[in-house]
Amino acid sequence: MEPALQRRVQRYGWDKAAAYYENSWQQQLKPAHDALFDFANIQQGQKIIDIACGTGLISFRAAAATGNKGFVLGTDISDKMVEIADHTSKENSINNIRFERMDAEELKVNDEEFDVAICGLGLMYAPSPVNALKEMYRVLKKGGICIAAVWGKRDNCGWADIFEIVDKRVSSEVCPMFFNLGNDNVLEKNLELAGFSTGKIKKIQSTLDYNSDETACAAAFEGGPVALAYFKFPGNVQKEACEEYLTSIGKYKTENGYSVPGEFIIGVGIK
Ligand SMILES: C[S@@+](CC[C@H](N)C(=O)[O-])C[C@H]1O[C@@H](n2cnc3c(N)ncnc32)[C@H](O)[C@@H]1O
Repeated sequence: MEPALQRRVQRYGWDKAAAYYENSWQQQLKPAHDALFDFANIQQGQKIIDIACGTGLISFRAAAATGNKGFVLGTDISDKMVEIADHTSKENSINNIRFERMDAEELKVNDEEFDVAICGLGLMYAPSPVNALKEMYRVLKKGGICIAAVWGKRDNCGWADIFEIVDKRVSSEVCPMFFNLGNDNVLEKNLELAGFSTGKIKKIQSTLDYNSDETACAAAFEGGPVALAYFKFPGNVQKEACEEYLTSIGKYKTENGYSVPGEFIIGVGIK
């Protein structure tokens, strides 16, 4: 897919997903967020940039950890995500944080400004993950660290058919190369290509737990990267796509709903 088109699909797709995002994903992503946060080991007074920050789930944790003498800049390509994060910060009078719309491959900040750069489950969506990592490298001070969490191998993510199910109904690819970063050593290689020395790498096996067909479908279609296409489908196509998705995760059905396997990879780069 043309990089410019991919950015537009992401931008307006996540605009559609923004209102559903936290309900659908906050709990499910917690294991990845916790590991990412541990690796970041944020100290009071540090300057942190959160790339593809979404509604700010990680940014706000970082702001609490760095305290009043520190600062967090949350950046995301979706206006709606930035709007929600900004609203939360104002509502809770959090003053050491700011949110701005920015493309991960083109950060509008000076060189060597930050101590820590974080990207939680956002790199897979950039047309060039290496360019996004190069930007993280550029804005970090010498000795600064970058922590990125990505989805793991396709075969270890039981919900992976969602892309095919949507792609065949729009005759294009919503997220080409989505699982590439989850393959063995690819995240480390990308970090190195961007200039980082690689540090810790952690794989986490997790499950995405849903208590009904409706919550499983809402998370997959409304709260995630395929939302733009999904909301354009007529009702009968939405229904058909949901049924196909539920069949694809049918083997993970439990007494109480679904427990779908997922894998995360968390990697650290040092400048
Ligand atoms: C799965 S959400 C992750 C949000 C947040 N980091 C978290 O862990 O909760 C992915 C985010 O990536 C953003 N995104 C997608 N492509 C992007 C790009 N090229 N530059 C910046 N953000 C992007 C989306 O708008 C979305 O908010």
